[in-house]
Amino acid sequence: MNKVSNPDFWDNLYIENSARWDLGGPTPILKHHLKHNKLTGDVCVLGCGNGHDVIELSNNNLSVYAVDFSIEAINNLKNKIPQESKIKTLHMDIFDLSKKYNDKFDFIFEYTCYCAIDPVRREEYFDLVYNLLKPNGILFGIFLPLDKKEEDGPPFSVSIDEILKYTSNRLKVLKNYYSSKSIEPRKGSEKVLIFQKI
Ligand SMILES: C[S@@+](CC[C@H](N)C(=O)[O-])C[C@H]1O[C@@H](n2cnc3c(N)ncnc32)[C@H](O)[C@@H]1O
Repeated sequence: MNKVSNPDFWDNLYIENSARWDLGGPTPILKHHLKHNKLTGDVCVLGCGNGHDVIELSNNNLSVYAVDFSIEAINNLKNKIPQESKIKTLHMDIFDLSKKYNDKFDFIFEYTCYCAIDPVRREEYFDLVYNLLKPNGILFGIFLPLDKKEEDGPPFSVSIDEILKYTSNRLKVLKNYYSSKSIEPRKGSEKVLIFQKI
């Protein structure tokens, strides 16, 4: 088994304060999107980590399901959840979600989860996303790193062509762009892809 498929690997990174991907707040790309688009319904955040984006989505009145198999990440998030929020934390492997949550979500948010899973599971990841979304549901993904040469990870390097291969005929591309709101070190190495379930 690849080490990244074991929650202990991630727990240790959180315990050692080595979560170098963590922005310490929501990504400005999501903030910008929420400012300009009215979302409603049930949202799922896959591999939510410390949950800054979860809180941001919840602050926009959305009912958010935050999923992570690291208990450290889930506990860090739980410690920040405002009392009145509609956040539901799910301490579980994302690949077990479809047993209970098929056709459940209007919106799935992806940021640095896809590059964290074992690359051999990428097609399975999109099977999962497809199954979790309601008809016409939206996947909002920020995919990175697009410029990594080494094969090792996490993060494992990501290719937009590969993503388009796994999503073709089932998720329609609505948008595919580099965002001016990317934080400086990620500019040009991450891309926003917005898909709608066909
Ligand atoms: C690189 S971190 C990103 C966290 C968060 N999205 C962020 O941007 O700060 C990847 C997260 O995905 C979680 N993760 C990886 N594989 C997972 C799986 N199969 N099921 C659930 N969570 C998973 C890890 O525990 C970790 O918290």
